Amino acid sequence: CTLCESRTQTVFGTGDPRSPLMIIGEAPGGDEDVKGKPFVGRAGKLLTDIIEKGMKYKREHVYIANVLKCRPPGNRNPAPEEIEACRSYLERQIEIINPKVILAVGLFPAQWLTGEKRPLGRLRGQVHEVNGRKVVCTYHPAYVLRNYTVDTRKKVHSDVLLAVEILGSPPLVK
Ligand code: URA
Repeated sequence: CTLCESRTQTVFGTGDPRSPLMIIGEAPGGDEDVKGKPFVGRAGKLLTDIIEKGMKYKREHVYIANVLKCRPPGNRNPAPEEIEACRSYLERQIEIINPKVILAVGLFPAQWLTGEKRPLGRLRGQVHEVNGRKVVCTYHPAYVLRNYTVDTRKKVHSDVLLAVEILGSPPLVK
């Protein structure tokens, strides 16, 4: 797609490729575009807290990637043709990592993974079985930062506990 014209570098993914937990976000933002790693900005700091304090796992034990590998200019929403152009990369990443559970953070990864068009409020709060894979959806950490209410944080916490339940208790091993 044309995002390569404006981005600094691709942001492929980081973490343990043997992890049973894969977290999938939307697309790199400004900080990620500079560093070449996903979730290294403010939303990333909250994601780390969600993983470490909420799920009691270590961030480096999780594999983290995005629906798009390139930053959309001005952090706009991914366009449908960009999502399609990047589709095979994420499909292959999921195949190789073969996680026990995938946590989708945000609307775009939630719809990408479930194949559903429902809003995130309807997709979260349950375990989806998609082509034999377990998928849990929750709010994007950037959304949580903008809506930092007890209600939103409780919902994210209960969603991530659904994923923890599938994984079993730490240590995080396949
Ligand atoms: N938001 C995302 O969805 N992904 C990132 O990597 C950073 C922010």
